[in-house]
Amino acid sequence: MKFFIDTANLDQIKEANDLGILDGVTTNPSLMAKEGIKGPEAVFNHYKTICEMVNGDISAEVISTEFDKIVEEGKKLAAIHKNIVVKVPMIKDGVKAIKWFTDNGIRTNCTLVFSAGQAILAAKAGAAYISPFIGRIDDSGWDGMELIVQLAHIFRVQGYKSEILAASIRSPNHIIKCAEAGADVVTSPLESILGLLKHPLTDIGLAKFLEDAKKFA
Ligand code: E4P
Repeated sequence: MKFFIDTANLDQIKEANDLGILDGVTTNPSLMAKEGIKGPEAVFNHYKTICEMVNGDISAEVISTEFDKIVEEGKKLAAIHKNIVVKVPMIKDGVKAIKWFTDNGIRTNCTLVFSAGQAILAAKAGAAYISPFIGRIDDSGWDGMELIVQLAHIFRVQGYKSEILAASIRSPNHIIKCAEAGADVVTSPLESILGLLKHPLTDIGLAKFLEDAKKFA
């Protein structure tokens, strides 16, 4: 399973990248706004900086919702760097645009996926990545992990080439469950990635080893 970080914060991207386990980055308009990035030029420069920092796929989201405009915006985003993947929302014009991008050699990440039906449509249109938002499903009282399990089964049976990119991760346990269910990629905030490191027995064991090491140092 590939690890992407879900942020536009350069310090956090650097920290995850320095760990040596980072395969890519996902962003969205809310994450860009959180970093105070304003205006198309600043947004493009920010994507460029991320592409130069991380050797992996970088999702850049369109903010248009009509086919022609999504295509126009997506072409500009894709031109920033070879690793840009154009992130397109799961709407009717989005599906149409994903097919257009697929036919024209531009890779896409279909975002805001909350059902198997939506994922099947995105796969048919040729999306490179499909992003089910498991945390937001959990937030609404359903079980996001059930969707990952269902998609892993459907994609295997149907031989779909799209990668399941589990998004909206809320905890280290979400990451573990995604690995168990067969997600191809997980995109997570830094906190949940670092949460995987933690175990109290590791801390206790290390403290004891270091204490004992003083006896023969
Ligand atoms: C996916 O690519 C999105 O950026 C993200 O995972 C959304 O997560 P949230 O529900 O925490 O906003």
